[in-house]
Amino acid sequence: MDKLCVRGGASLSGTVEIAGAKNAALPLMVASLLIEEPLVLENVPAVSDIETLKALLGGFGVEIQQADADGALSLNACALSSAHADYDLVRRMRASILVLGPLLAREGYAEVSLPGGCAIGSRPVNMHVEALEALGAEVAIDGGYVRARLPSSRSRLAGGQVVFASPSVGATENALLAASLAKGESKIINAACEPEVVDLANCLVKMGAEISGIGTSTLLIQGSECLQGTAHRVIPDRVEAGTYAVAAAITRGRVRLEKVCPDHLEVFLGMLERANVVVQVESQAPQMQGAETSGLQTKSEPQGTIALDATGGALCAVDITTAPYPMFPTDLQAQFMALMTQAQGESHITESIFENRFMHVQELIRLGAKIEVRGATATVQGATPLQAAPVMATDLRASVSLVLAGLAAEGDTEIRRIYHLDRGYQNLEGKLRALGAEVWREPQD
Ligand code: UD1
Repeated sequence: MDKLCVRGGASLSGTVEIAGAKNAALPLMVASLLIEEPLVLENVPAVSDIETLKALLGGFGVEIQQADADGALSLNACALSSAHADYDLVRRMRASILVLGPLLAREGYAEVSLPGGCAIGSRPVNMHVEALEALGAEVAIDGGYVRARLPSSRSRLAGGQVVFASPSVGATENALLAASLAKGESKIINAACEPEVVDLANCLVKMGAEISGIGTSTLLIQGSECLQGTAHRVIPDRVEAGTYAVAAAITRGRVRLEKVCPDHLEVFLGMLERANVVVQVESQAPQMQGAETSGLQTKSEPQGTIALDATGGALCAVDITTAPYPMFPTDLQAQFMALMTQAQGESHITESIFENRFMHVQELIRLGAKIEVRGATATVQGATPLQAAPVMATDLRASVSLVLAGLAAEGDTEIRRIYHLDRGYQNLEGKLRALGAEVWREPQD
């Protein structure tokens, strides 16, 4: 296993191209299970979570071909050979639970291992199960597996009303996927509105699904007996974009992000401005895309560029609270905390989505940060000079916050367990190096 070494001190400058969103690509790949025709996805990021899902889908009999151009994947689920998702793959990636709804809708039964705990909290799957029960499934949990089947009287899921007590991205996606093939109308109340959910809904519509209320908290789905293949371009990764924005800010640099959706980052960018970073957004009109790899034309999300300039004056402390979209994303909380260690004054960072998402705090403290956690709020005293130290990555976003802190620290910071980073960041070292950072991998002893 490798460790990542980061030499602090360089001020980043230049341009970085943002990859497709991992969290959008995963449910889109799963949507291939609904159809007997190929689904072509463009702009799929080259990260290890995508490889894990490829292996899982391959186990069900999905044929996957990788085209050279633009991260394009063709997924063909014309015949499924299994509806069993084993613990070995599911434990590697919680998003594997997304296959439950589509497998059940297509095959009439599905068995998916319970994902188990993870570093950022208990992360139960009760909402996924309740959603499928509301669509007429019989679900049992035994032997560490969620086993779902249709009642013997039915050949398809039935339309129904799914009411979520609080919005869940994954459970909304699971319900949306399953309801698209159910018989009759389904309503999802208190649905998550994240751009990744919208991207999935837009692709399902291209596949022939009838969905209204896309982007709102109430989704209405008229189930179809059969959906068709299509081509779809994955939206840009707002979390990757936000991470490079923080890299620019924490190194007091000047960086331009390309191929992004600035609209998806509105609240986050507002907080960066309050922290004294100059943010300039340029949006472009949606373009027709997809002809080269698939022969099918699709209309893209409005894309653009974000220019960040943190070269003028000191960074200021800003309070943030994570909350469902469009508010501040939990997936950018750790990165923003790293930034706040370099801002003048006291900032309060409140995590309202996951109960244990402060695993990065102890590691940031090892680098010299002054942070105190009380309940769901971390108080950061800045600005403190950071000193390089060996640190341990605990989850995907926590690990990248340590890379960011390393960029601002004096000396060479070593980050261990970097397989977390490879789950979600495409070519992190290459992109940082192109912006002038000194970052390299070494074998971990
Ligand atoms: C997705 C994202 C993840 C992001 C999170 C919140 C993917 C692959 N991952 O995760 O990066 O941090 O959204 O934006 O897209 N919950 C339950 N029961 C359930 C499901 C969820 O109690 O059955 C709770 C969770 O513990 C959490 C909250 O709901 O407290 C929101 O989680 P959810 O939106 O479901 O997150 P994921 O879909 O797992």
